[in-house]
Amino acid sequence: MNDILFRKICGSYATGVTVITSSFENTDYGFTANSFTSVSINPYLILFCLNKNASSNNALLKGNHFIINILSNSQSEICNQFANNNLSPNERFKGIKTITSKNKIKIILDSISNLSCKVKNIIDGGDHFIYIGEVVDGNLNNDREPLVYHNSMIRKII
Ligand SMILES: Cc1cc2nc3c(=O)[nH]c(=O)nc-3n(C[C@H](O)[C@H](O)[C@H](O)COP(=O)(O)O)c2cc1C
Repeated sequence: MNDILFRKICGSYATGVTVITSSFENTDYGFTANSFTSVSINPYLILFCLNKNASSNNALLKGNHFIINILSNSQSEICNQFANNNLSPNERFKGIKTITSKNKIKIILDSISNLSCKVKNIIDGGDHFIYIGEVVDGNLNNDREPLVYHNSMIRKII
């Protein structure tokens, strides 16, 4: 095994795309993630993996809440904007239509669905942390098609 082969094999697995938002000390944070998956139905648990150097770690740890925004096929620019680590946390939200949740976290409008979660557990995962989240609320707009990530490319289901 080597890094390139490992990345290529993992990238051959098609996923949806999410933006995970959080908030701490009046600053909104968000990053693009395809590592989201459901874990348990009793209780309702989900997980995602986040690079240990990512700017959202502090907000997730201290703010303790986050929202998983599941992107629709009209939101590829939002996917790129929240994956751009040259943008500050505030700049990533520029031009993005949002509403604010009870926990003061931004919900991205026109997504397919979202889950409001509380951090339950953080597990060491090599150069990433594995966040286990307990789901406290959610919304579904089933009339939209998903954004898909496959072989390092954003794709749409036609
Ligand atoms: C489609 C896609 C999926 C991604 N998934 C993840 C992920 O699951 N975990 C992660 O740590 N970074 C992921 N990234 C990279 C982050 O979005 C990017 O590095 C972001 O800039 C990290 O936030 P930071 O700049 O605030 O540290 C993904 C990027 C893209 C384009």
